Amino acid sequence: MNKISIKPTNDFCPQTLFLYGTYDDEGKADFGLFCWFSYIWDGELGVMACIGGDKLTKENIHKRKMFSANLVTEKLLPLADHLGNTSGYNPEKMKPDMEIENGRVLPVPIMTASPVIYELEVKQFIPLDDGEVMLCRIRNVLQDDLLAQGSGSSSEKMDAIAPIHTTCSRYFSWEGKDLGAWGEPMSKVN
Ligand SMILES: Cc1cc2nc3c(=O)[nH]c(=O)nc-3n(C[C@H](O)[C@H](O)[C@H](O)COP(=O)(O)O)c2cc1C
Repeated sequence: MNKISIKPTNDFCPQTLFLYGTYDDEGKADFGLFCWFSYIWDGELGVMACIGGDKLTKENIHKRKMFSANLVTEKLLPLADHLGNTSGYNPEKMKPDMEIENGRVLPVPIMTASPVIYELEVKQFIPLDDGEVMLCRIRNVLQDDLLAQGSGSSSEKMDAIAPIHTTCSRYFSWEGKDLGAWGEPMSKVN
């Protein structure tokens, strides 16, 4: 098949979405939406995450060196889209209804409705010109018991939790249905 060279882009390369949960100095929880997230190996499974520019999530992680990463599912999409398109410095950001609890191992806020949650401790910050890569130790993984202990195949479990894919600045369902452009699903948040 003929190929065309284009400028750097990750279009047509689907990514998984996570909500990063952090506390600020006053213990107020903040969540932001992130997709530059993957895994590393250093004697054990770890996580690498990239944050571009300055944002509250980055400021909070710098102070506490820990955060949670909460898998985004179809059910969570409107809220996740709001959290990805509203700055943490906007006092209205965390107003919509959301059930938040504390991590089991680390003092990080976690999103109760997410079926898979990492509690992460940053081992190494790698500053870039306009971003930062963080290498993290996985201190705990929380999974809904349906996933960790329930019967059924992995395929049935994935269908049940329905994680979101994103590419081309749009969201896609686990089954590949177009769920709208970034910034659209948030209109369903009250
Ligand atoms: C679909 C989507 C994915 C995003 N992924 C990232 C990412 O991987 N890294 C990043 O720095 N910002 C990412 N953002 C932007 C942040 O979510 C946004 O800056 C948000 O306001 C951060 O929350 P905070 O201001 O409370 O820190 C993404 C936004 C969207 C809509």
